[in-house]
Amino acid sequence: MLPKNARREEVLDRLEEQGGLKPGVVQRVHQETGVPEADIYGVATFYHLLAEPDVEVRVCQGLTCKVLGSEALMRDVQSTGTSACYASCLGRCDQAPALWRAHHQEPPLHTGLTESHSGLAIDLENHKKYKLKALQKLLAQGPDWVLGQLETSELTGRGGAGFPAHIKWRAIRGQAETERYIVLNADEGEPGTFKDREVMLRRPDLVLEGLAIAAKCLEAADIYLYIRGEFQGPKQAMRDALTRLQETGLLDGLNWHFVDGHGAYICGEETALLEALEGKRGMPRMKPPYPVEKGFRGKPTLIQNVETIACLPAILRQGGEWFRDLGKTEAGTKLYCLSGHVRRPGVYEVPMGSTMAELLDQAGGVDGNLKAFSPGGASSGFLPASEVDIPMDFKSLRDAGSMLGSAGVVVLNDTVDMVEASLMQAVFFEDESCGQCAPCRIGTQVIRQTLERYLESKDVAVLAHLNEVMWGMGEASICGLGQAAYWPLQSAMKYFPQEFGLEADSAND
Ligand SMILES: Cc1cc2nc3c(=O)[nH]c(=O)nc-3n(C[C@H](O)[C@H](O)[C@H](O)COP(=O)(O)O)c2cc1C
Ligand code: SF4
Repeated sequence: MLPKNARREEVLDRLEEQGGLKPGVVQRVHQETGVPEADIYGVATFYHLLAEPDVEVRVCQGLTCKVLGSEALMRDVQSTGTSACYASCLGRCDQAPALWRAHHQEPPLHTGLTESHSGLAIDLENHKKYKLKALQKLLAQGPDWVLGQLETSELTGRGGAGFPAHIKWRAIRGQAETERYIVLNADEGEPGTFKDREVMLRRPDLVLEGLAIAAKCLEAADIYLYIRGEFQGPKQAMRDALTRLQETGLLDGLNWHFVDGHGAYICGEETALLEALEGKRGMPRMKPPYPVEKGFRGKPTLIQNVETIACLPAILRQGGEWFRDLGKTEAGTKLYCLSGHVRRPGVYEVPMGSTMAELLDQAGGVDGNLKAFSPGGASSGFLPASEVDIPMDFKSLRDAGSMLGSAGVVVLNDTVDMVEASLMQAVFFEDESCGQCAPCRIGTQVIRQTLERYLESKDVAVLAHLNEVMWGMGEASICGLGQAAYWPLQSAMKYFPQEFGLEADSAND
């Protein structure tokens, strides 16, 4: 008899195949896998897309969609008798206010307002026939040459943390364990972020070539592509490109596994993603050990963001130095997502470290008067309009008490109330906290409740304990969600104290 968890990895796929949490499904998946029913129920209820399978339409309540009218959109949808619910950011901020219909065929190519400039590292507009030249270079020159180019390029992770890619690659090469895995993090869910969607739609060839280079270089045979469940169009573009590229024979020996996300933002966090791949609830693991040492199935695993991986072919074709020198303040180019109160929302590839003012120019300027912006997703908090000349790179934003994160830039004009904007981000974090640790689970709830009370009463006394709550979250949360979930509120109180009824000095205490 198989041990009870031997087929656990199948649980999420089977729940999805059978339509999610519907009568009888948990029992059937238990019979098919041997995993205890209570466990399967716990998994199914963790993921929005499995827990609410009968909802036809999901209306986005990310910050951009909220300020651009998601409540009116929800009323319109409901007035037609369609079953609908709100969803955390849907990754369609350039189409705000956005909605998503489950099981609805998406067009294979997005035709929205997204733009880029040719000749740069990722070059979203280039559709030329692809020849896997970088992979051929790896095969000719060997892994040590690749690692050298990667180090020279100074490529840092584009998923949020900005960690140097070559350090992770070398750490895996140095492991005695020979069973190794490559994982593509395409779970893009940070509010304001939709660049990975565009890369997969427009340049799936770059992503697949980058993954193949990683696998050959790190001697891994299995590649897992974890793509958020709402991105069916990008997934199809990746599958189609894979079929074409496999005809070259250069990808022989590699096994490609497409895995759907199921609507849980936290699964973008790398160890939560690994838990999901293993068929469990996506609750982040304590680190160390890091995935390069003990990752998927406890084996060395490279987890890399879509944009990071898509930079590899250009780095190997044109050289690490070429890539490094593309940047203004830090290496390479960067895909920035611009949404909110800008005239031309979209994804823009420009040199890393371009200023916020330059990005606004790219996006056609501000719609109205700039009041604030969120530079790198909800986790980055807010900066005021006076910071418009800040270079949008990892270090400059860290020094300013914010972060580049996923470069999901949300622009707010002076019609936006910053207490309400803070509440929108608070609702997101409360909904998406995995609930594993108390400072985050309770802290996100306290922040949301306090802001609601303040908006109702305008009584500054209700804000009294927020600083202690925020301190606890920062110090004692396990993962980056809880460690940053209070940044929108803290930064809004710092830069816009009068909107919270505070004196400037007390907000900065
Ligand atoms: C709450 C949270 C959500 C995250 N979401 C994503 C995500 O959607 N996509 C992503 O690539 N990285 C995300 N990350 C970062 C990953 O944990 C990890 O650093 C990244 O996938 C590593 O790839 P990179 O080095 O290429 O950036 C998230 C991190 C946290 C703490
Ligand atoms: S900080 Fe929040 S999201 Fe992260 S592990 Fe703790 S409860 Fe889960």
